[in-house]
Amino acid sequence: MKTVAIANQKGGTGKSATTHALGAVLAAEHQRRVLMVDIDPQSSLTEACASVDTSGVSLAEVLGGATPGTLTLKKIILELSDNLYLAPADLALAATELGLVSRMGRENVLKKALASVAGIFDVALVDCPPSLSLLTVNALTAADAVLIPTQPQAVDLRGLRLFLSTLDNIRQELNPELHTLGILPTFFDSRLTHHKEAIGAMERAGLPLMNVRIGRSVRVAEAAANGETVVTFEPKNPQAQAYRELAEEINQWLSNN
Ligand SMILES: Nc1ncnc2c1ncn2[C@@H]1O[C@H](COP(=O)(O)OP(=O)(O)O)[C@@H](O)[C@H]1O
Ligand SMILES: [Mg+2]
Repeated sequence: MKTVAIANQKGGTGKSATTHALGAVLAAEHQRRVLMVDIDPQSSLTEACASVDTSGVSLAEVLGGATPGTLTLKKIILELSDNLYLAPADLALAATELGLVSRMGRENVLKKALASVAGIFDVALVDCPPSLSLLTVNALTAADAVLIPTQPQAVDLRGLRLFLSTLDNIRQELNPELHTLGILPTFFDSRLTHHKEAIGAMERAGLPLMNVRIGRSVRVAEAAANGETVVTFEPKNPQAQAYRELAEEINQWLSNN
């Protein structure tokens, strides 16, 4: 099993939408066994999988806090559709985050939990909270690779630099093998000069950009409100196609690694 963290400390960059769409396409069209892992206390990915009843248990019971969790990861995993599974989040993860601070081996808690299901899934996609919190550090420590959804505008590029330097720290201190899949421009509108300028600035700075751009479409948000991704909600939508291209790239990487 390979683990991919979908991360950026900024909120609203399309992390959860990307995790969901990527998971759905890898499962349905590439026959990968996919575990989506929601480690955001705000639980937007879990909520976007509307059909699931989490019965009140979440990753919080697996990760624990100041003391180890009481459930195994396997116990909380929900089947969403063929090949597609979810480890749900809830607000209790906020307490996990606080409790972990005083825990021995606090950066490795998620990594250990994921190791327990490594034989069952081909890939785990970890949807991170919008912060550089200990939960995000856990995801980046567990991950083989990181994908960074980013809105292409100047204000977000400053945050992006901070995030990239955090990745360097993670490599130095915790996870030397962490691979950067790339920066995924989201909410991209090719008619907007400031978007094109931001992409140009990233290219000139030699930042690792993905080839795919995800555009803005109200259908992406509508799909989430409907418990789906745009890929099934409106398969011919250009953003559905963009997510398929992204999944193609990630599928290639999975095959080669
Ligand atoms: N490509 C898109 N076009 C339009 N709306 C989007 C797109 N991607 C995400 N959204 C919406 O924008 C909001 C933030 O996206 P989300 O994926 O939750 O971001 P994050 O997880 O980075 O905070 C959500 O309401 C989501 O449905
Ligand atoms: Mg999110």
